[in-house]
Amino acid sequence: MGSAGKSDTYDGKGKRLYIVTYGCQMNDRDSEALAGLFLDRGYEMTEIVESADVILINTCSVRDHAENRAISFAGSLKEIARHKDTRHTSHEERTTPIKPIIGLIGCMARNRGEDIFQKMPHIDLIVGPAHLDKIPDFVDEIRNPKHEIRKRIIQIEDEERSEALYHPLFRVEPGHAQIVISTGCSNWCSYCVVPHVRGPLRLRTPQDIIEEVKRNVDAGIKKVTLLGQNVNDYEYTSHVTGHTTHVVNFVDLLKEIDKIDGVEELSFITNNPKNTSKELFEVMAHSPKIVKHLHMPFQSGSNRILELMNRGYTREKYLQLAEEYKKITGGTLGTDVIVGFPNEAEKDFLQTEDLMRRVRFKCAFIFKYSPRPGTKAAGMPDDVTEVEKKRRHAVLLEMQKKISKENYTG
Ligand code: SAH
Ligand code: SF4
Ligand code: F3S
Repeated sequence: MGSAGKSDTYDGKGKRLYIVTYGCQMNDRDSEALAGLFLDRGYEMTEIVESADVILINTCSVRDHAENRAISFAGSLKEIARHKDTRHTSHEERTTPIKPIIGLIGCMARNRGEDIFQKMPHIDLIVGPAHLDKIPDFVDEIRNPKHEIRKRIIQIEDEERSEALYHPLFRVEPGHAQIVISTGCSNWCSYCVVPHVRGPLRLRTPQDIIEEVKRNVDAGIKKVTLLGQNVNDYEYTSHVTGHTTHVVNFVDLLKEIDKIDGVEELSFITNNPKNTSKELFEVMAHSPKIVKHLHMPFQSGSNRILELMNRGYTREKYLQLAEEYKKITGGTLGTDVIVGFPNEAEKDFLQTEDLMRRVRFKCAFIFKYSPRPGTKAAGMPDDVTEVEKKRRHAVLLEMQKKISKENYTG
Protein backbone atom coordinates (compact mmCIF):
# COMPACT_ATOMS: atom_id res chain seq x y z
CA MET A 1 0.00 0.00 0.00
CA GLY A 2 2.96 2.29 0.71
CA SER A 3 2.40 5.99 0.95
CA ALA A 4 -0.92 5.74 -0.91
CA GLY A 5 -2.32 4.31 2.31
CA LYS A 6 -1.52 7.52 4.08
CA SER A 7 -3.22 9.73 1.55
CA ASP A 8 -6.30 7.49 1.53
CA THR A 9 -6.73 7.54 5.25
CA TYR A 10 -5.07 10.60 6.75
CA ASP A 11 -5.46 13.33 4.19
CA GLY A 12 -8.44 15.60 4.82
CA LYS A 13 -8.94 16.34 1.11
CA GLY A 14 -12.56 15.90 0.14
CA LYS A 15 -13.55 15.17 3.71
CA ARG A 16 -16.31 17.14 5.28
CA LEU A 17 -16.66 18.55 8.78
CA TYR A 18 -19.92 19.43 10.50
CA ILE A 19 -19.82 21.34 13.80
CA VAL A 20 -22.77 22.30 15.97
CA THR A 21 -22.12 24.69 18.85
CA TYR A 22 -24.09 25.29 22.04
CA GLY A 23 -23.32 27.91 24.68
CA CYS A 24 -21.44 31.16 24.85
CA GLN A 25 -19.35 33.30 22.53
CA MET A 26 -16.25 31.57 23.88
CA ASN A 27 -17.63 28.30 22.55
CA ASP A 28 -18.42 29.88 19.17
CA ARG A 29 -14.82 31.01 18.99
CA ASP A 30 -13.54 27.55 20.00
CA SER A 31 -15.58 25.95 17.22
CA GLU A 32 -14.29 28.50 14.73
CA ALA A 33 -10.67 27.87 15.77
CA LEU A 34 -11.18 24.13 15.57
CA ALA A 35 -12.80 24.41 12.14
CA GLY A 36 -9.70 26.40 11.12
CA LEU A 37 -7.44 23.50 12.13
CA PHE A 38 -9.49 21.08 10.02
CA LEU A 39 -9.65 23.45 7.03
CA ASP A 40 -5.86 23.84 7.18
CA ARG A 41 -5.67 20.04 6.78
CA GLY A 42 -7.76 20.11 3.63
CA TYR A 43 -11.24 19.49 5.02
CA GLU A 44 -14.32 21.35 3.82
CA MET A 45 -17.19 22.52 6.03
CA THR A 46 -20.66 21.12 5.47
CA GLU A 47 -24.03 22.17 6.85
CA ILE A 48 -25.58 18.82 5.98
CA VAL A 49 -24.96 16.47 8.85
CA GLU A 50 -25.67 13.36 6.75
CA SER A 51 -22.85 14.24 4.38
CA ALA A 52 -20.19 14.75 7.04
CA ASP A 53 -17.13 12.57 7.62
CA VAL A 54 -16.56 14.20 11.01
CA ILE A 55 -19.36 15.49 13.24
CA LEU A 56 -18.43 17.55 16.29
CA ILE A 57 -20.87 18.68 18.97
CA ASN A 58 -19.35 21.53 20.98
CA THR A 59 -21.34 21.51 24.19
CA CYS A 60 -22.30 23.82 27.05
CA SER A 61 -23.12 22.91 30.66
CA VAL A 62 -24.23 26.26 31.95
CA ARG A 63 -27.91 25.33 32.21
CA ASP A 64 -29.87 22.11 32.09
CA HIS A 65 -31.51 23.19 28.87
CA ALA A 66 -28.17 23.57 27.02
CA GLU A 67 -27.05 20.12 28.12
CA ASN A 68 -30.35 18.49 27.17
CA ARG A 69 -30.28 19.93 23.66
CA ALA A 70 -26.77 18.60 23.02
CA ILE A 71 -27.58 15.17 24.47
CA SER A 72 -30.67 14.89 22.34
CA PHE A 73 -28.74 15.88 19.20
CA ALA A 74 -26.00 13.36 20.05
CA GLY A 75 -28.68 10.68 20.52
CA SER A 76 -30.23 11.49 17.14
CA LEU A 77 -26.94 10.61 15.42
CA LYS A 78 -27.24 6.93 16.35
CA GLU A 79 -28.79 6.11 12.99
CA ILE A 80 -26.01 7.82 11.00
CA ALA A 81 -23.44 6.00 13.14
CA ARG A 82 -24.80 2.63 11.91
CA HIS A 83 -23.45 3.33 8.42
CA LYS A 84 -20.54 1.39 7.01
CA ASP A 85 -17.11 1.94 8.52
CA THR A 86 -14.77 2.77 5.63
CA ARG A 87 -11.41 2.70 7.36
CA HIS A 88 -10.41 -0.33 5.36
CA THR A 89 -11.53 0.86 1.95
CA SER A 90 -9.64 3.22 -0.30
CA HIS A 91 -11.01 6.55 -1.45
CA GLU A 92 -12.19 5.10 -4.76
CA GLU A 93 -13.79 2.02 -3.24
CA ARG A 94 -15.91 3.93 -0.79
CA THR A 95 -19.58 3.31 -0.86
CA THR A 96 -21.88 5.85 0.66
CA PRO A 97 -23.19 6.43 3.18
CA ILE A 98 -20.02 6.31 5.22
CA LYS A 99 -19.77 6.07 8.95
CA PRO A 100 -18.75 9.46 10.28
CA ILE A 101 -16.52 10.06 13.29
CA ILE A 102 -18.66 11.62 15.98
CA GLY A 103 -17.17 13.74 18.75
CA LEU A 104 -18.80 15.32 21.77
CA ILE A 105 -16.49 18.10 22.91
CA GLY A 106 -16.27 21.17 25.15
CA CYS A 107 -17.74 21.90 28.56
CA MET A 108 -20.14 18.97 28.89
CA ALA A 109 -17.40 16.58 27.78
CA ARG A 110 -15.40 17.73 30.79
CA ASN A 111 -18.43 17.59 33.06
CA ARG A 112 -20.17 14.38 32.06
CA GLY A 113 -17.78 12.84 29.53
CA GLU A 114 -17.14 9.55 31.31
CA ASP A 115 -20.82 8.87 31.72
CA ILE A 116 -21.59 9.74 28.09
CA PHE A 117 -18.67 7.59 26.91
CA GLN A 118 -20.28 4.60 28.66
CA LYS A 119 -23.86 5.33 27.65
CA MET A 120 -23.37 6.38 24.02
CA PRO A 121 -21.12 3.86 22.26
CA HIS A 122 -21.76 5.56 18.90
CA ILE A 123 -19.73 8.58 20.12
CA ASP A 124 -16.11 7.98 19.05
CA LEU A 125 -14.49 10.94 20.71
CA ILE A 126 -14.98 12.89 23.94
CA VAL A 127 -12.69 15.88 24.35
CA GLY A 128 -12.70 18.61 27.01
CA PRO A 129 -12.05 22.32 26.37
CA ALA A 130 -8.32 22.03 27.15
CA HIS A 131 -7.55 19.61 24.31
CA LEU A 132 -9.45 20.93 21.30
CA ASP A 133 -6.28 21.44 19.24
CA LYS A 134 -5.62 17.68 19.37
CA ILE A 135 -8.94 16.73 17.79
CA PRO A 136 -7.70 16.52 14.16
CA ASP A 137 -4.96 14.09 15.30
CA PHE A 138 -7.47 12.09 17.34
CA VAL A 139 -9.67 11.82 14.24
CA ASP A 140 -6.70 10.49 12.23
CA GLU A 141 -5.96 8.01 14.97
CA ILE A 142 -9.55 6.73 14.96
CA ARG A 143 -9.50 6.49 11.19
CA ASN A 144 -6.21 4.59 11.20
CA PRO A 145 -6.77 1.22 9.45
CA LYS A 146 -4.22 -0.53 11.61
CA HIS A 147 -6.82 -0.84 14.36
CA GLU A 148 -9.04 -3.88 13.74
CA ILE A 149 -11.75 -2.44 15.94
CA ARG A 150 -12.54 1.21 15.67
CA LYS A 151 -10.77 3.04 18.47
CA ARG A 152 -12.59 5.40 20.86
CA ILE A 153 -10.80 8.28 22.56
CA ILE A 154 -11.61 10.28 25.67
CA GLN A 155 -9.45 13.17 26.91
CA ILE A 156 -11.02 15.50 29.42
CA GLU A 157 -8.39 16.49 32.01
CA ASP A 158 -8.11 20.18 32.78
CA GLU A 159 -4.84 21.82 31.76
CA GLU A 160 -3.46 24.87 29.96
CA ARG A 161 -4.45 24.76 26.31
CA SER A 162 -1.99 24.98 23.47
CA GLU A 163 -1.50 28.18 21.48
CA ALA A 164 -1.77 26.01 18.35
CA LEU A 165 -5.55 26.33 18.59
CA TYR A 166 -5.30 30.02 17.78
CA HIS A 167 -3.03 29.77 14.75
CA PRO A 168 -5.53 29.23 11.90
CA LEU A 169 -6.92 32.37 10.31
CA PHE A 170 -10.37 31.03 9.43
CA ARG A 171 -13.17 33.41 10.52
CA VAL A 172 -16.89 32.68 10.31
CA GLU A 173 -17.76 36.37 9.95
CA PRO A 174 -15.37 37.77 7.38
CA GLY A 175 -13.46 40.74 8.75
CA HIS A 176 -14.24 39.97 12.40
CA ALA A 177 -11.76 38.30 14.76
CA GLN A 178 -12.82 37.14 18.20
CA ILE A 179 -9.68 36.86 20.29
CA VAL A 180 -9.55 34.82 23.50
CA ILE A 181 -7.53 36.69 26.15
CA SER A 182 -8.11 34.26 29.01
CA THR A 183 -9.64 30.86 29.63
CA GLY A 184 -11.44 29.56 32.70
CA CYS A 185 -12.62 31.57 35.67
CA SER A 186 -11.74 31.77 39.35
CA ASN A 187 -14.66 33.85 40.55
CA TRP A 188 -16.78 30.94 41.78
CA CYS A 189 -20.20 32.55 41.53
CA SER A 190 -22.22 30.04 43.54
CA TYR A 191 -24.60 29.06 40.70
CA CYS A 192 -22.02 28.74 37.96
CA VAL A 193 -20.47 25.64 36.44
CA VAL A 194 -17.88 27.49 34.33
CA PRO A 195 -14.97 27.29 36.85
CA HIS A 196 -15.73 23.57 37.20
CA VAL A 197 -15.67 22.81 33.48
CA ARG A 198 -13.22 25.39 32.13
CA GLY A 199 -10.79 25.32 35.02
CA PRO A 200 -9.19 28.25 36.84
CA LEU A 201 -8.46 31.60 35.20
CA ARG A 202 -5.49 31.25 32.84
CA LEU A 203 -4.12 34.16 30.84
CA ARG A 204 -2.65 34.18 27.39
CA THR A 205 0.43 36.39 27.27
CA PRO A 206 0.01 39.96 25.99
CA GLN A 207 2.52 39.08 23.23
CA ASP A 208 0.50 36.07 22.06
CA ILE A 209 -2.72 38.09 22.06
CA ILE A 210 -1.22 41.05 20.21
CA GLU A 211 0.47 38.78 17.67
CA GLU A 212 -2.85 37.04 16.98
CA VAL A 213 -4.52 40.42 16.43
CA LYS A 214 -1.70 41.51 14.07
CA ARG A 215 -1.77 38.24 12.11
CA ASN A 216 -5.49 38.75 11.61
CA VAL A 217 -5.14 42.40 10.64
CA ASP A 218 -2.55 41.38 8.05
CA ALA A 219 -5.15 38.96 6.70
CA GLY A 220 -7.73 41.74 6.32
CA ILE A 221 -9.52 41.76 9.69
CA LYS A 222 -10.90 45.15 10.76
CA LYS A 223 -13.12 44.26 13.70
CA VAL A 224 -11.77 42.70 16.91
CA THR A 225 -13.66 41.35 19.96
CA LEU A 226 -11.69 40.32 23.04
CA LEU A 227 -13.15 37.38 24.95
CA GLY A 228 -12.90 36.33 28.59
CA GLN A 229 -15.41 35.12 31.20
CA ASN A 230 -14.52 38.31 33.03
CA VAL A 231 -12.10 40.39 30.99
CA ASN A 232 -11.42 42.65 34.01
CA ASP A 233 -9.62 39.73 35.68
CA TYR A 234 -6.82 40.00 33.09
CA GLU A 235 -3.63 40.93 34.92
CA TYR A 236 -0.49 39.50 33.40
CA THR A 237 2.71 39.74 35.42
CA SER A 238 5.99 39.23 33.60
CA HIS A 239 9.44 39.26 35.13
CA VAL A 240 11.46 41.76 33.15
CA THR A 241 14.87 41.39 34.76
CA GLY A 242 15.63 39.64 38.02
CA HIS A 243 13.33 41.23 40.56
CA THR A 244 11.62 43.77 38.30
CA THR A 245 8.09 42.82 37.34
CA HIS A 246 5.83 44.31 34.74
CA VAL A 247 2.06 44.08 35.04
CA VAL A 248 -0.35 44.39 32.12
CA ASN A 249 -3.98 44.66 33.23
CA PHE A 250 -7.05 44.58 31.00
CA VAL A 251 -7.12 48.33 30.45
CA ASP A 252 -3.41 48.29 29.47
CA LEU A 253 -4.05 45.44 27.06
CA LEU A 254 -7.03 47.24 25.54
CA LYS A 255 -4.93 50.36 25.00
CA GLU A 256 -2.22 48.32 23.27
CA ILE A 257 -4.71 46.69 20.91
CA ASP A 258 -6.40 50.03 20.29
CA LYS A 259 -3.05 51.30 18.94
CA ILE A 260 -2.70 48.59 16.31
CA ASP A 261 -3.07 50.06 12.82
CA GLY A 262 -5.76 48.33 10.85
CA VAL A 263 -8.05 47.61 13.84
CA GLU A 264 -11.06 49.79 13.11
CA GLU A 265 -13.59 48.48 15.61
CA LEU A 266 -12.80 47.08 19.03
CA SER A 267 -15.11 45.46 21.60
CA PHE A 268 -14.88 43.01 24.50
CA ILE A 269 -17.05 40.72 26.59
CA THR A 270 -17.79 40.10 29.55
CA ASN A 271 -17.22 42.66 32.33
CA ASN A 272 -18.10 41.58 35.86
CA PRO A 273 -19.26 44.67 37.82
CA LYS A 274 -17.15 43.73 40.83
CA ASN A 275 -13.93 44.90 39.15
CA THR A 276 -15.10 47.13 36.32
CA SER A 277 -13.28 50.47 36.64
CA LYS A 278 -13.90 54.09 35.79
CA GLU A 279 -10.52 53.99 34.04
CA LEU A 280 -12.02 51.53 31.55
CA PHE A 281 -14.88 53.93 30.83
CA GLU A 282 -12.39 56.71 30.20
CA VAL A 283 -10.38 54.61 27.76
CA MET A 284 -13.62 53.69 25.99
CA ALA A 285 -14.67 57.33 25.79
CA HIS A 286 -11.37 58.45 24.30
CA SER A 287 -11.02 55.81 21.63
CA PRO A 288 -12.96 56.27 18.41
CA LYS A 289 -12.39 52.56 17.72
CA ILE A 290 -13.94 51.11 20.89
CA VAL A 291 -17.63 50.22 20.61
CA LYS A 292 -19.68 52.12 23.20
CA HIS A 293 -21.51 49.11 24.52
CA LEU A 294 -20.71 47.28 27.74
CA HIS A 295 -22.04 43.84 28.62
CA MET A 296 -21.97 44.04 32.42
CA PRO A 297 -24.32 41.42 33.91
CA PHE A 298 -25.95 42.33 37.24
CA GLN A 299 -27.68 38.91 37.74
CA SER A 300 -29.88 40.14 40.63
CA GLY A 301 -31.01 43.49 42.02
CA SER A 302 -31.20 42.18 45.59
CA ASN A 303 -28.17 42.48 47.85
CA ARG A 304 -29.24 39.41 49.79
CA ILE A 305 -29.31 37.31 46.60
CA LEU A 306 -26.11 38.88 45.24
CA GLU A 307 -24.36 37.77 48.39
CA LEU A 308 -25.74 34.23 48.11
CA MET A 309 -24.55 34.27 44.50
CA ASN A 310 -21.05 35.33 45.64
CA ARG A 311 -20.96 38.10 43.05
CA GLY A 312 -18.83 40.56 45.04
CA TYR A 313 -20.83 43.79 44.53
CA THR A 314 -24.03 45.42 45.72
CA ARG A 315 -26.97 46.87 43.81
CA GLU A 316 -25.83 50.34 44.91
CA LYS A 317 -22.36 49.76 43.42
CA TYR A 318 -23.95 48.48 40.20
CA LEU A 319 -26.24 51.48 39.86
CA GLN A 320 -23.35 53.86 40.49
CA LEU A 321 -21.16 52.11 37.90
CA ALA A 322 -23.96 52.16 35.34
CA GLU A 323 -24.46 55.87 35.87
CA GLU A 324 -20.74 56.66 35.62
CA TYR A 325 -20.47 54.52 32.50
CA LYS A 326 -23.31 56.33 30.76
CA LYS A 327 -22.01 59.75 31.79
CA ILE A 328 -18.43 59.10 30.68
CA THR A 329 -19.00 57.13 27.47
CA GLY A 330 -22.56 58.00 26.46
CA GLY A 331 -22.83 54.30 25.61
CA THR A 332 -25.35 51.50 26.08
CA LEU A 333 -25.40 48.61 28.54
CA GLY A 334 -26.23 44.93 28.29
CA THR A 335 -26.87 42.42 31.05
CA ASP A 336 -27.61 38.85 32.09
CA VAL A 337 -30.20 38.23 34.80
CA ILE A 338 -31.11 35.10 36.74
CA VAL A 339 -34.61 34.70 38.19
CA GLY A 340 -35.62 32.09 40.74
CA PHE A 341 -32.26 31.68 42.47
CA PRO A 342 -32.67 29.67 45.73
CA ASN A 343 -34.37 31.76 48.37
CA GLU A 344 -35.40 34.54 45.94
CA ALA A 345 -38.51 36.03 47.53
CA GLU A 346 -40.98 38.33 45.80
CA LYS A 347 -39.30 41.38 47.38
CA ASP A 348 -35.91 40.29 45.96
CA PHE A 349 -37.44 39.87 42.54
CA LEU A 350 -39.05 43.32 42.76
CA GLN A 351 -35.58 44.78 43.35
CA THR A 352 -34.32 43.07 40.20
CA GLU A 353 -37.26 44.48 38.29
CA ASP A 354 -36.58 47.92 39.77
CA LEU A 355 -32.91 47.82 38.78
CA MET A 356 -33.80 46.90 35.22
CA ARG A 357 -36.34 49.69 35.07
CA ARG A 358 -33.77 52.23 36.26
CA VAL A 359 -30.82 51.20 34.09
CA ARG A 360 -32.74 50.66 30.86
CA PHE A 361 -30.48 48.09 29.21
CA LYS A 362 -30.12 47.93 25.48
CA CYS A 363 -30.21 44.14 25.70
CA ALA A 364 -30.88 41.71 28.52
CA PHE A 365 -30.52 37.93 28.56
CA ILE A 366 -32.89 36.62 31.21
CA PHE A 367 -32.45 33.09 32.56
CA LYS A 368 -34.43 30.86 34.89
CA TYR A 369 -32.14 29.48 37.57
CA SER A 370 -31.08 25.91 36.91
CA PRO A 371 -29.10 24.05 39.61
CA ARG A 372 -25.75 22.76 38.35
CA PRO A 373 -24.41 19.66 40.10
CA GLY A 374 -21.22 20.37 42.01
CA THR A 375 -21.83 24.10 42.46
CA LYS A 376 -22.36 25.69 45.86
CA ALA A 377 -25.89 26.80 44.99
CA ALA A 378 -26.84 23.23 44.10
CA GLY A 379 -26.56 22.56 47.83
CA MET A 380 -29.26 25.17 48.55
CA PRO A 381 -32.91 24.21 48.15
CA ASP A 382 -34.18 25.04 44.65
CA ASP A 383 -37.28 26.45 46.31
CA VAL A 384 -38.78 28.80 43.73
CA THR A 385 -41.35 26.78 41.80
CA GLU A 386 -41.04 26.34 38.05
CA VAL A 387 -44.34 28.21 37.62
CA GLU A 388 -42.99 31.15 39.61
CA LYS A 389 -39.66 31.12 37.73
CA LYS A 390 -41.61 31.25 34.48
CA ARG A 391 -43.73 34.14 35.72
CA ARG A 392 -40.72 36.19 36.84
CA HIS A 393 -38.96 35.40 33.58
CA ALA A 394 -41.97 36.56 31.57
CA VAL A 395 -42.33 39.78 33.60
CA LEU A 396 -38.73 40.80 32.93
CA LEU A 397 -38.88 39.76 29.30
CA GLU A 398 -41.98 41.87 28.76
CA MET A 399 -40.42 44.89 30.47
CA GLN A 400 -37.22 44.55 28.45
CA LYS A 401 -39.20 44.31 25.24
CA LYS A 402 -40.90 47.61 26.06
CA ILE A 403 -37.61 49.33 26.97
CA SER A 404 -35.91 48.12 23.81
CA LYS A 405 -38.83 49.40 21.74
CA GLU A 406 -39.03 52.79 23.44
CA ASN A 407 -35.30 53.47 23.63
CA TYR A 408 -33.54 51.64 20.95
CA THR A 409 -35.67 51.59 17.84
CA GLY A 410 -36.22 54.44 15.47
N1 SAH B 1 -18.78 34.99 32.69
C1 SAH B 1 -20.03 35.58 32.49
C2 SAH B 1 -21.16 34.59 32.45
C3 SAH B 1 -21.04 33.33 31.72
S1 SAH B 1 -22.42 32.29 31.86
C4 SAH B 1 -20.31 36.54 33.63
O1 SAH B 1 -19.79 36.40 34.71
O2 SAH B 1 -21.12 37.43 33.41
C5 SAH B 1 -23.68 33.29 31.06
C6 SAH B 1 -24.86 33.58 31.92
O3 SAH B 1 -25.56 32.39 32.22
C7 SAH B 1 -24.56 34.16 33.29
O4 SAH B 1 -24.28 35.52 33.24
C8 SAH B 1 -25.81 33.86 34.08
O5 SAH B 1 -26.77 34.87 33.92
C9 SAH B 1 -26.32 32.59 33.39
N2 SAH B 1 -26.15 31.42 34.25
C10 SAH B 1 -24.99 30.88 34.70
N3 SAH B 1 -25.25 29.82 35.49
C11 SAH B 1 -26.60 29.68 35.55
C12 SAH B 1 -27.47 28.78 36.22
N4 SAH B 1 -27.02 27.82 37.00
N5 SAH B 1 -28.81 28.93 36.03
C13 SAH B 1 -29.28 29.92 35.25
N6 SAH B 1 -28.51 30.80 34.60
C14 SAH B 1 -27.18 30.69 34.76
FE1 SF4 C 1 -19.41 32.04 36.10
FE2 SF4 C 1 -19.12 34.06 37.74
FE3 SF4 C 1 -17.03 33.19 36.36
FE4 SF4 C 1 -19.00 34.45 35.10
S1 SF4 C 1 -17.65 35.33 36.65
S2 SF4 C 1 -18.01 32.56 34.46
S3 SF4 C 1 -20.81 33.80 36.23
S4 SF4 C 1 -18.10 32.07 37.96
FE1 F3S D 1 -21.40 27.10 28.47
FE2 F3S D 1 -18.91 26.46 28.71
FE3 F3S D 1 -19.59 28.83 27.78
S1 F3S D 1 -20.49 25.96 30.15
S2 F3S D 1 -21.49 29.24 28.81
S3 F3S D 1 -19.98 26.91 26.81
S4 F3S D 1 -17.85 28.35 29.05
